[in-house]
Amino acid sequence: MSSTLRVVVFLILSSIALHAQPTAKTIPTQLPGQNAILLGVAWYPEQWPEARWEEDLRLMEAADLKVVRIAEFAWSRMEPSEGHYDLDWLERAINLAAKHHIVSVLGTPTATPPAWLTQKYPDTLRVEPDGQRVAHGNRAHASATSARYREFCRRIAEQMATRFGNNPNVVGWQIDNEYGYAQMSYDDDTRRQFQEWLKAKYQTLDNLNARWTTAYWSQTYDNWGEIPIPVGPHNPALMLEWKRFITATWTSYQQNQIDVIRKHAEPRQFITGNFMGFFDGFDHYPITEALSFASWDDYVGTGHVDPAYNGLSHDLTRGFKRENFWVMETQPGAVNWSKLNNFLNRGEARAMAWQAIGHGADDVNYWQWRSALNGQEEIHGVLVGPDGTPVPFYDEAAKTAHEFDKAEAAFRGTQPLSQVALLYSYDSHWALQFQKHTEKYDDIKLLTSYYRPLHQLAQSLDVISGYAPLENYKLVVAPNLNVLPKDLADHLLSYVRNGGHLVLGPRSGMKDEFNGLLPQRQPGYLVDALGARVDQYYALEKDFPVSGAWGSGEASIWADQLKSMSSGDEVLLKYGKSNGWLDDQPAVLTRAYGKGRITYIGAVLDEKLMAAAAEWMIQKSGVTPVFGTVPGGVEVSRRVGPDKQVFVFVNYAQENRAVKLPRTMKLPLDGRQGDSLDLPPYGVGIAVEPR
Ligand code: GLA
Repeated sequence: MSSTLRVVVFLILSSIALHAQPTAKTIPTQLPGQNAILLGVAWYPEQWPEARWEEDLRLMEAADLKVVRIAEFAWSRMEPSEGHYDLDWLERAINLAAKHHIVSVLGTPTATPPAWLTQKYPDTLRVEPDGQRVAHGNRAHASATSARYREFCRRIAEQMATRFGNNPNVVGWQIDNEYGYAQMSYDDDTRRQFQEWLKAKYQTLDNLNARWTTAYWSQTYDNWGEIPIPVGPHNPALMLEWKRFITATWTSYQQNQIDVIRKHAEPRQFITGNFMGFFDGFDHYPITEALSFASWDDYVGTGHVDPAYNGLSHDLTRGFKRENFWVMETQPGAVNWSKLNNFLNRGEARAMAWQAIGHGADDVNYWQWRSALNGQEEIHGVLVGPDGTPVPFYDEAAKTAHEFDKAEAAFRGTQPLSQVALLYSYDSHWALQFQKHTEKYDDIKLLTSYYRPLHQLAQSLDVISGYAPLENYKLVVAPNLNVLPKDLADHLLSYVRNGGHLVLGPRSGMKDEFNGLLPQRQPGYLVDALGARVDQYYALEKDFPVSGAWGSGEASIWADQLKSMSSGDEVLLKYGKSNGWLDDQPAVLTRAYGKGRITYIGAVLDEKLMAAAAEWMIQKSGVTPVFGTVPGGVEVSRRVGPDKQVFVFVNYAQENRAVKLPRTMKLPLDGRQGDSLDLPPYGVGIAVEPR
């Protein structure tokens, strides 16, 4: 062999060896040098004498807590008067936390501007739809559209970033706190910004008038300044565009702070925002684009955790960026703001923390560490009481954190991996909210009714935007795609043509991107592929019978009457005797198209039929469960790394459950290998196997 050839062969072989070596993927939610999964708390050192901090941190360290999120409401301590900054105390708090092996996430304090600011510059305060300016003293009282307010936000963020952007103990940033929680400001300047935003989008009023069909009710605009901010019911296009303007506003509000933090912060410091599950004030897909990862605040409020709804909310958050996420806040037992602030059962919060990890969270933080002695949330759940000593929940948090430590290595470089995607669209959600047609129509409930049986069968679901890449899914289910513009329809059609199975729910494919009716029947641009259309839709005042391949049951709330226009259609369910119009008409249809399949479910089905529908979808699409059979009441979720898969089992049944593993696996919580797990109520099991 010539020496050149030898070098080439060596290079090829070493590159094969390099690639054969499983390399853990870098996941932005997992911090270099830290455990792969972390438990932490929201801590408010500014509320307490400095002499107390050490004891707080000692208690946190004893509980194995690894993260504090701090400063997100501390503006008046950081800038006690205009332009006079004091960050020394914060640096001391961060350093002291580090001494106890606790890293800090810094919140920018812009949800709580100080009194000197709002009093000197009242134009920074929001104006309510009735024209009243909000008073100081709550939070989220500033206007996100105010240029003056944004400048103050930029300055405080810059002070923090220059001071802490290379502090080794600051791991990342949270911008503001739960933005969108309060309304936009309804002042003249905001209205002018909205009009300018519309002008940039539509270019001409003729275009806008045509898209919005403003000839209807004499809405025609001949001057941009005439366009109102919608308050209450209004033109559907105007209402949808207002939501998009709110999205654009929070996006630029957020970017204003990201820019200045990024300028000074080391790239290793992440930037996130804490979102609120299905909160619908803005579209979360564009707003999370500029963030390192998404986070959310997971609160049950009244009652107890519904694992399906909570799992769906985790998956929604993971789907914003199709990456792991953080649970930036969760309740330590009880909240203070719900109808009934009952305490979660013993073990329930621990079960929730592990469920979060199973669904792709890499950090869970309790809100909050210690009861403030006064203030709006003085009787919220905590780990440490007003006397500074632990409450009973502290032990449950400590146990969970200790388990995180034990199992963390198994989760390094792992993420959920699903064969099934559920599509979620803010445009469709809003369109359906604006025109419910029956007050009972709740698209999130409908989404959950699909999620519940599908998750039970597939054991892993992604919840994503329809515009996301779809080619890796065997099944894509879109229960609520009311707004279905051409580009989205084309994307879905190409998925089906290439072998995917697309399932649409009721009211699909009715509207264009301007929230106007498509000039064809539902499901709009997908009619040809389905070989059928919706001939008429009905809001139901009572349940109607349906029966067919999935068994018999009831349709409630909504019924689309389908009409087959192709011999390739298979009718899976038909309505029984009902209002005369629907009698014997198709309720569910499916058709092979390209290399794939498209199915339309026209009615809101009862639980039994939904279970049968899910079973059919899974089988027809060749979806395999990520684990296999688990006993009733046990949720399994899975995370996958290059060389392993990790299963998380949580028992929500109120009695013991035994999980049989198909093979012997490593059980890090039990410190042994085994092929079965015994789970008491709220019991958690982790099983790891090579892949
Ligand atoms: C929200 C906020 C926190 C706190 C909790 C209380 O999630 O972000 O500041 O008010 O609720 O449950």
